[in-house]
Amino acid sequence: MEAIGTKQSHWDQVYTTKKLEESSWYQPRPSVSLGFIQQLSVAKDATIIDIGGGDSLFVDHLLDLGYQNISVLDLSPKALERAKNRLSERAKAVKWILADAAKFEPTEQYDFWHDRAAFHFLTKDTDILHYVQTASTAIKPGGHLMIGTFSEQGPKKCSGLEIRQYSTQSLSEVFTGHFQKVNCFSVDHHTPAQTVQNFIFCVFRKK
Ligand SMILES: C[S@@+](CC[C@H](N)C(=O)[O-])C[C@H]1O[C@@H](n2cnc3c(N)ncnc32)[C@H](O)[C@@H]1O
Repeated sequence: MEAIGTKQSHWDQVYTTKKLEESSWYQPRPSVSLGFIQQLSVAKDATIIDIGGGDSLFVDHLLDLGYQNISVLDLSPKALERAKNRLSERAKAVKWILADAAKFEPTEQYDFWHDRAAFHFLTKDTDILHYVQTASTAIKPGGHLMIGTFSEQGPKKCSGLEIRQYSTQSLSEVFTGHFQKVNCFSVDHHTPAQTVQNFIFCVFRKK
C-alpha cells in the first residue's frame, strides 16, 4: 500500500501543479495511437482501455471518432478528475478506473489496450510480470495491445521518476508468448519545452 501511496502522491502533485500543455508528454493529437486505431480498423463498439491515460486527449479524440466503450485507468485521482472536468457531460460516456496498473484486476475484456508512457514506469520485474499477465488475460483473442515507452536513446527519467527503457526487441520479448508482434518502430516526440524524446511503439495481437 505504501508504494501506491507514494506513486499516487507524486502524480497527484504533478497534476495539481502542472497544466496539461506544460507536461513533457503532452500531445494535442496523439497521432501514432490514432494511426493504429485506424490501421487496425478498430470497431466503433470495441472495448478500449487507456492505461495510465492521465488527462491525455486520446479519450477526447476517441469520443470524437464515435467510440462508445472507452475506459481510462490511472493511479492519480487528480489526473482522472482533470480529464472528467475537461470532458464535462461527455465524461459520463467513459469508465474511469482508479488503479495501479501493476495491481490492476480487470472486470471486463478489451479489444484494444493502449499504454503510452505508463508501462515504462514499472521498473520491478514482479510488477512487469503482473502487468503482462493481466494484459494477456484481459485482452480478447485477436485483440490488440499498443505500448509506447522511452527507447534506449530516450530519457532515463520521466517526471523525476526512474523508468525502464526498451528497444523494439526487448519490448517484444516482454510480451512474446501471449502476443504476436504486429509492428514496432521508434518515434521522436517533441515536447512543449522543445526537447526531443525518442519512443518505441509496438502493437501486439493477442494469440
Ligand atoms: C507520462 S504520463 C502519460 C499520460 C498519458 N498516457 C499520455 O500519453 O499523455 C504517465 C501517466 O501514467 C500514470 N501512471 C504512472 N504509473 C502508473 C501506474 N503504476 N498505474 C497507473 N497509472 C500510472 C501517471 O499518473 C500519469 O498519468
